[in-house]
Amino acid sequence: MADTLTITDNRTGKQYEVPIQDGTIKATDLRQIKVTSDEFGMMTYDPAFMNTAACKSRITFIDGDKGVLLYRGYPIEQLAEKSDFLEVAYLILFGELPTTKAHEDWARDVTLHTMLHTNLAKLMEGFRHDAHPMGMFISTVGALSTFYPDAKDIFSPESRRLQTVRLIAKVPSISAYAFRHSIGRPFNQPDNDLSYAGNFLSMLFRMTELKYTPNPVLERALDVLFILHADHEQNCSTSTMRAIGSSHADPYSALAGAAAALYGPLHGGANEAVLRMLHEIGSINNVPAFIKRVKAGEGRLMGFGHRVYKSYDPRAKIIKRMADLVFDVMGKNPLLEMALELERIALEDEYFVSRKLYPNVDFYSGLIYQAMGFPVDMFPVLFAIPRTAGWIAQWEEMLNDPDQKIARPRQIYLGHGPRDYVPRERRK
Ligand SMILES: CC(C)(COP(=O)(O)OP(=O)(O)OC[C@H]1O[C@@H](n2cnc3c(N)ncnc32)[C@H](O)[C@@H]1OP(=O)(O)O)[C@@H](O)C(=O)NCCC(=O)NCCS
Repeated sequence: MADTLTITDNRTGKQYEVPIQDGTIKATDLRQIKVTSDEFGMMTYDPAFMNTAACKSRITFIDGDKGVLLYRGYPIEQLAEKSDFLEVAYLILFGELPTTKAHEDWARDVTLHTMLHTNLAKLMEGFRHDAHPMGMFISTVGALSTFYPDAKDIFSPESRRLQTVRLIAKVPSISAYAFRHSIGRPFNQPDNDLSYAGNFLSMLFRMTELKYTPNPVLERALDVLFILHADHEQNCSTSTMRAIGSSHADPYSALAGAAAALYGPLHGGANEAVLRMLHEIGSINNVPAFIKRVKAGEGRLMGFGHRVYKSYDPRAKIIKRMADLVFDVMGKNPLLEMALELERIALEDEYFVSRKLYPNVDFYSGLIYQAMGFPVDMFPVLFAIPRTAGWIAQWEEMLNDPDQKIARPRQIYLGHGPRDYVPRERRK
């Protein structure tokens, strides 16, 4: 017998058989449920997409209850231990781990596209000295579409591949420029001899030395952080990428929109919010009082809780281990003690336990970034660099999916019915 769901409409007594596929029913199959034939039909109401699959995807798998995260089937723990970011980006974008030759070609292609057009640098110089780097990032990525109008050819696989290489290559350069601008230092040109993470560190921190040599521990830590942030299936920014892309906008415009979604404190801005929270708490002695306020609904414990993970975020575990290595090189972040105490109390407290609130990836990443010398407003930018791989992969998957159309949710209209216009002088 085929898998179906039988629905009885008590208003009419009619029964409907709705097919079940991949554990879901199609929302449009509910449209047949109506009292009269001229009715639109039954819709589902799902604000914030709590229970709606908007696509079929083969990129990232999350089991939120078990704390599992797979990219193209590979566990995040194995990738973080054995792989490097460029390889993981390739995996996410093209579906398989690259052969040695494919990896070399990919790394070379990316390396050859790291430079920014001089006019793009001029555009970035136009920002105020105190401009938020994420604002600069969003605007500059959006501006890339005016530099590469060929990107509009979104149905050409060759064009998509070229824009993909450009984006993966240029987002670290744009990010480093944004950082250098905010500290009033000249932009550093990319160094093609260095790794993806090493070159980024060089563009950020090189001073007068002719050759910058990245600290291998920090270079690896950054690379692992990039791996952990490369994709996370249908989150807010990725859904934005898909939604903008569904109108057939070019990938730069879509990615600027995705980055804007990432900017919010509930998404990519959460690690910045974690540090602000730790500064606000101020001392380990104030932790119990802070937890009390959170439980009274007077604020949130930032870096805790997740829409999907209802157990320990697997990325948070890896980051916690990374933090020790970074602190060995850079010295302990004084906020760490407070973070550990918050975690200890929260993991024992009924409020957090019953709501399945565990540390997420952002709880510790901010502490590492700060120890590495990044100011807090660079944190969302550091998230956007690796997530670019995920955004493009999801965009490409959406474009190639025959089920997809322009994204256009429905609404339940609760406003006025038709009424006549009243001239201004007669209004009360
Ligand atoms: C991530 C987040 C937005 C997910 O939210 P969500 O899936 O919509 O979950 P809800 O907001 O419905 O929360 C469910 C319950 O847990 C509580 N809760 C969720 N996150 C909380 C937090 N960080 N601190 C305190 N309480 C929290 C809510 O108040 C709610 O309690 P209630 O049922 O008594 O009303 C949310 O957990 C949050 O704001 N976390 C802090 C920000 C953060 O770290 N974001 C990074 C995500 S990677």
